[in-house]
Amino acid sequence: MSTITEAPDAALLAAVRTAPKAELHLHLEGTLEPEMAFALAQRHGVALRWPDAQALRAAYAFDDLQAFLDLYYAGCDVLRSADDFFELAWAYCRRAAADGVVRAEVFIDPQSHTARGVDFAVFMPALARAAQRARDELDLSVDYIVCALRHLSEDDALAMLEASRPWAEHYIGVGLDSSERGHPPGKFTRLFARAGELGLRRVAHAGEEGPAAYVAEALDALGVERIDHGVRALDDAAVLERLARERVPLTVCPLSNVRLRVYPDMAAHRLPELLRAGIVATVHSDDPAYFGGYVNDNYTALFEAHPQLGADDAYRLLRNGLQASFAPTAQVERWIARLDAHWRRCGYALPA
Ligand code: HPA
Ligand code: ZN
Repeated sequence: MSTITEAPDAALLAAVRTAPKAELHLHLEGTLEPEMAFALAQRHGVALRWPDAQALRAAYAFDDLQAFLDLYYAGCDVLRSADDFFELAWAYCRRAAADGVVRAEVFIDPQSHTARGVDFAVFMPALARAAQRARDELDLSVDYIVCALRHLSEDDALAMLEASRPWAEHYIGVGLDSSERGHPPGKFTRLFARAGELGLRRVAHAGEEGPAAYVAEALDALGVERIDHGVRALDDAAVLERLARERVPLTVCPLSNVRLRVYPDMAAHRLPELLRAGIVATVHSDDPAYFGGYVNDNYTALFEAHPQLGADDAYRLLRNGLQASFAPTAQVERWIARLDAHWRRCGYALPA
């Protein structure tokens, strides 16, 4: 007779995977799966450098952020028509809903499209249509955040923001992404001041490859409400203590951090230390097509590599994500009530 022994955390992982959750750090262009890249390339008669999707996927071995970004921007070239953007966003929404995502705040990189002559008028209505369909058919709430590419000038970013204004109803905030080293948050002070005047929510990538000082600078110079990544704050006790005291959420992306060599492997990821330090950490997927997994894969990889993380930690991460979202408070409270009911149904107590 054989007995099947489950891994000790299998029940907890199942509870996490089926829990309602928020995806707050997700680049739409980073959801372009190789198969879709090839289909779109064929649609537009574009030649890709790789013979097939399998070869392209095999090229996803990165030494650092820049190595990834070079491929990521190259991938954007197949996104040309409104249908392309709709299909990309809708595919992501369906994939997210399958992971229990009830709220997605999706980054887009307009400059990676407008620089190729693909205007807001092409992609913004298409993305809005996908978001509407997600609300109607998947019970998934989606909003967009337009990001400025920090390797370009602030004037370029300001021009992007002004060009986006006719589609203001289709996005809720401004973010900052791309190559972090050598492009400190302070380079974009005027952009974020303008975003503030426009009543937009503000977030920025900081402390991914860049130093902890960039995390503090994003708070002080840009007035951001959340930090994307932010894990390098662990290098500076004062910055860490401030994040905990001010309850600034960090949107952490475990698989991304390992793939881009912020950490050598998942066991070395320092998210458990963030939780111990009282940081409002959340778990997300960044660029799932490139980094080997969507949000549930991130939770799974993290918990498998850190057996000391328990049910209370899982609940805390899930709740932090919902709480840190920019959805209306009443809606957030309904999602948290759903999470709480789910958690109890799975046999876990709510942490005090
Ligand atoms: N970091 C910075 N810029 C990005 C990323 C990231 O992980 N993904 C897409 N643009
Ligand atoms: Zn990111």
